[in-house]
Amino acid sequence: MRVLVIHGPNLNMLGRRDPELYGTQTLADINGLIEARAKELDTQVECFQANGEGAIIDFIQANASGADAIIINPGAFGHYSYAIHDALLDSNVPIAEVHLSNVFSRDQWRRTSVISPIVRGVVSGFGWRGYVAALEMLVALVREKG
Ligand code: DQA
Repeated sequence: MRVLVIHGPNLNMLGRRDPELYGTQTLADINGLIEARAKELDTQVECFQANGEGAIIDFIQANASGADAIIINPGAFGHYSYAIHDALLDSNVPIAEVHLSNVFSRDQWRRTSVISPIVRGVVSGFGWRGYVAALEMLVALVREKG
């Protein structure tokens, strides 16, 4: 089983970026935590980060056909990128949308996600643990169906 983990814009700054809100772990730390859990679950993960919308879409197009599921923290793109919405829709695999912070407790504009309507589920507000929870849920779902 293979899961793509996609981190959107500004998430390369984790660790330095508002640690009260996003935690003290760097992106490399978080990817390490996801990879460790994936190993226990006998699952392969491919972690990717980009600040650009096009790079994220290119990654989805190039890798989705060989994947069983996608975890994406779209960052601010989640609030308005119909292009990422469309790329995810075309992937035809179950998707988990993850946000480190609780987007519903922040600015009004963060309460809108153009991605949520096409994902299997959303995890928001649990920091890096949200990625691990999403991984566990997607692996269980895919195995259940297999
Ligand atoms: C975020 C929430 C978004 O609103 C924000 O633009 C981010 C990070 C989160 O993980 O909490 O970049 O996706």
